Amino acid sequence: MGWPGSSSGATRRAPSGRPHPSIDLRNALVRRTEPARSTIWNTARRRPIAALSYERGCTTIVATEEPTPDFTIALPDERELDQNEEFCDLLIDGRSQRVRFHDYARIFEIPGLYEGLFVETLKCASPDVVAGLLAESVRAAGEDPADLRVLDFGAGNGMVAEALARTGARTFYGLDLLPEARMAALRDRPGLYVDYLADDVTTLDADDAAVLRDARLNCLVCVAALGFDDVPPAAFAAAFNYVGSPGWCAFNLRDRFVDQPGAFSQLLDRMVREGVIEETAHTRYQHRLSVAGQPLFYDAVVARKLRDIPLDWVR
Ligand SMILES: C[S@@+](CC[C@H](N)C(=O)[O-])C[C@H]1O[C@@H](n2cnc3c(N)ncnc32)[C@H](O)[C@@H]1O
Repeated sequence: MGWPGSSSGATRRAPSGRPHPSIDLRNALVRRTEPARSTIWNTARRRPIAALSYERGCTTIVATEEPTPDFTIALPDERELDQNEEFCDLLIDGRSQRVRFHDYARIFEIPGLYEGLFVETLKCASPDVVAGLLAESVRAAGEDPADLRVLDFGAGNGMVAEALARTGARTFYGLDLLPEARMAALRDRPGLYVDYLADDVTTLDADDAAVLRDARLNCLVCVAALGFDDVPPAAFAAAFNYVGSPGWCAFNLRDRFVDQPGAFSQLLDRMVREGVIEETAHTRYQHRLSVAGQPLFYDAVVARKLRDIPLDWVR
């Protein structure tokens, strides 16, 4: 691996003779496949964006797919925004547009934006924290993460399954309300999920319900999706009940939803009190920074699932 020559020295010429739209090489990694041909990987997006070929003393950039639009993220200078009110201004193709952080459909449409915004800019650590804590509990119980059959609920574009894969887990089913999330996961992390459903877990269509029943799930993971206006308790319970008992469960929740009386804190207390789960790990950590640069704390919880949640608890 290495740069075969500086990008600025490359002659950008499409094979057809048309000038190629410029490709941003700032995050690019050139992987040499053979002497005369290299693949340019976008390291943020972890996929090939173009190929370089060297012929007749001239370097040609050949797009392997439409180059994805480059973007610049500007965070607002606002201190009082709650998490579900946060937004950024996105400069894309020379135009500025405002994107709310909770407009996931819009964010997932733009390859690399979710990672660029939450991981690179706001230092989101949750996928790795929750995945690491789950793997620790599983190993401490004498089990192997490779045997987990995970339902990644509120899966987004697949960052959590990818973090779990780094701990040794191998079998993932994705479920998210948004078709845009499914599309982004399949686009950005092809092959990661056995199946990825875009559906409402409380009203799954018959085919999707059959996929989850046949999946022999033994682990629910739900990261950065509980509380606020995202997954409500009834949806959490429905997803939880697709996992067999005994099984595993790992999720995170904003600190104040754990500390203050509310739908989730009450549900969690009851789950522990009435033997639905047995906690094996619980830690408070920095989930990410706010747009104002302040740390946002979440609780990560890992538990043994012992039995289903009675649905009358969440009606
Ligand atoms: C902040 S993203 C987190 C994505 C992923 N878990 C991660 O940590 O990278 C929240 C996700 O929850 C999904 N979501 C919100 N409400 C949901 C519901 N009722 N059922 C399933 N997914 C939901 C959103 O569509 C979005 O993809």
